Amino acid sequence: MKKIAVITSGGDAPGMNAAIRAVVRQARYDGLEIIGIQRGFQGLLEDKFLPLDQRSVSGIINKGGTILRTARCPEIKTDAGMNRALSMLEQLKIEGLIVIGGDGSLKAGHRISQKGMPVICIPASIDNDIYGTDETIGFDTAANIAVEAIDKIRDTASSHERIFIVEVMGREHGFLSLSVGLAAGAEFIVVPEVKFNVNKLCYALENIHERGKTSVIVVFAEGVGNPLELAKKIEEKVHLEVRVSSLGYIQRGGTPTMRSRVLASKFGAHAVKLLMQGAKNRLVVLQKGEIQDISLSEALKEEKQFDMVTYTLAQQISM
Ligand code: F6P
Repeated sequence: MKKIAVITSGGDAPGMNAAIRAVVRQARYDGLEIIGIQRGFQGLLEDKFLPLDQRSVSGIINKGGTILRTARCPEIKTDAGMNRALSMLEQLKIEGLIVIGGDGSLKAGHRISQKGMPVICIPASIDNDIYGTDETIGFDTAANIAVEAIDKIRDTASSHERIFIVEVMGREHGFLSLSVGLAAGAEFIVVPEVKFNVNKLCYALENIHERGKTSVIVVFAEGVGNPLELAKKIEEKVHLEVRVSSLGYIQRGGTPTMRSRVLASKFGAHAVKLLMQGAKNRLVVLQKGEIQDISLSEALKEEKQFDMVTYTLAQQISM
């Protein structure tokens, strides 16, 4: 193998740059030529490439976002888009592709690998929703940002004796919300994986207010629905002041934590080594503290399970 490419795709995640840096430096260390595809799969279709060397990735380990930029690309899901992507890779004489991204990007990478190109995927998403890995790049940073934000919101919640519903990202999953809720000491965590009953929540809210709790934080995963509707229902039933705060995109930006950087660096280097060993169609993962790799096809067939043990623990120690 002489020449490989790296791409970041889908939603950006803090630590993607650290992964690009590790991929480029490891590739150069191993004597490979490497190019970066810009603007995700959209850029691959539009001929947006950048030759990379050791210096191209200097000073980026501490930067959020992705220097390669990224995009959501519906076209890559079509046969025409896929054929164009393959012919661009062929024209550039790419012999191996490293895809850094979330669920949708992994699926695109898998389809490319099914056409014969060796593809190694690196899971990067604040949602931490990829099967087979205990953690995705960006998750730790996003969780810390959200916890810090909730700590601040807590001050207003206690001063005004209000209920705060804090909306946390995570697409249709509650993995991020669960960790954030536990770490922020949220009184309630509402996630798509666990059925929830508004009446029960209101009853509990009245109860804890009577027991002298001055502030209540409800961590609300975006995948559950509209937090404003929940706020309205609570105010109608319980007659307590409720405010909604959606953390939104601040969770995806900013300086990656040490943990996100270390994970990204190890994932990136491992991906290059896999290509060098002739591996194809693999997903780099973290399992019980070890960097491993598993079949990408198998990983995409499975759904990551929600951690009910931790959810129950969070419930039990929240009040
Ligand atoms: O997958 C990461 C994520 O931030 C989700 O948590 C969120 O639902 C989604 O991306 C938002 O997507 P977009 O950046 O396309 O608005």
